Amino acid sequence: MIKGNTRSFTKVSLLKSATEIQKLEKFSTDLGVNLFIKRDDLNGIGFGGNKVRKLEYLLGEAQDLGATHILTLGAIQSNHARLTGVTARMMGFEVELFLKESVAIDTECYQQNGNIALNNILEVQMHRIPNDNKMISRVESRMEEIRKEGGIPYFIPVGGSNALGNLGYLDCYNEIMIQEKELGVDFDYIVAASGSGGTHGGLIIGNVLNNNQAIIKAYNVQPEHDELVDHTIAICNDTLSWFGEESIDKSIVDLNSTYSGKSYGFPEEIHLDMLKKMAKWEGVFLDPVYTSKAFTGLVEDVKKGMYLPGSTILFVHTGGSPGIFAYANWY
Ligand SMILES: Cc1ncc(COP(=O)(O)O)c(C=O)c1O
Repeated sequence: MIKGNTRSFTKVSLLKSATEIQKLEKFSTDLGVNLFIKRDDLNGIGFGGNKVRKLEYLLGEAQDLGATHILTLGAIQSNHARLTGVTARMMGFEVELFLKESVAIDTECYQQNGNIALNNILEVQMHRIPNDNKMISRVESRMEEIRKEGGIPYFIPVGGSNALGNLGYLDCYNEIMIQEKELGVDFDYIVAASGSGGTHGGLIIGNVLNNNQAIIKAYNVQPEHDELVDHTIAICNDTLSWFGEESIDKSIVDLNSTYSGKSYGFPEEIHLDMLKKMAKWEGVFLDPVYTSKAFTGLVEDVKKGMYLPGSTILFVHTGGSPGIFAYANWY
């Protein structure tokens, strides 16, 4: 049980140790900065990824409420849906994933491989739904049915990005503070991909609560900018209110949408080139939907002088590895 000023939170312990921070030697030399990577992609649970940290709190709440069924929403190749499936299964819940057809890719590998193959192994129920404005009402009707059948449904929003989910990346921030001391470094920037705001939000809250001067930056993986900034600041302020903190202004949300490509789920040549370069230079596989876009943004911005020369930068690898196989014909 973790305590804020105004409420406490149940955390289920899914991650057994801190994720490793490694130096990206070749990129550091090439760019003239000290570039590190935090391997949340290798966190030991279900092919890894950022959602596990959020789910430690979301499923904690579900357990407290006596839930029997966990429901969530995402794209067909949602990493969040897969990790909800993995962790909820580990805890013995029934799982229903609502997978929206929001990315128009009809290859067999996109439709059947990657996260879908893993969801099949988990034997979770998948509802494929159109990408329309009835998505939430579809989930609500299913929740009503579950209640009528005597079950207790618990709904997790897209990406697990709400005030409670934010606590996962507040934990990550605190983990980074300890690792900084162990490694003898001081990160000037902490950088991650942003899709639904909870990873970025948790890191921002960490900075605020620790009164730290690090710059928290995120790269958007879809071109829609304002909605994501508004959502990120809204969930940050909800979380901060639980700690008795004053609201923060949205100018604190440093979100760059320049490298998102034309739409979510569609990597472009520049992103795929970066994915290949990272694999060849550092032996690290980025994913095609999130981290390849964010890491491209980071590298390009360093080249443009948007980071202080010689600075120390931490890129959080937020996972997405199964997506590599869903895009098998793109490389
Ligand atoms: C691999 C990966 N990276 C980054 C993100 C973005 O995280 P957030 O939704 O917290 O912004 C996601 C979200 O699904 C993801 O799957």
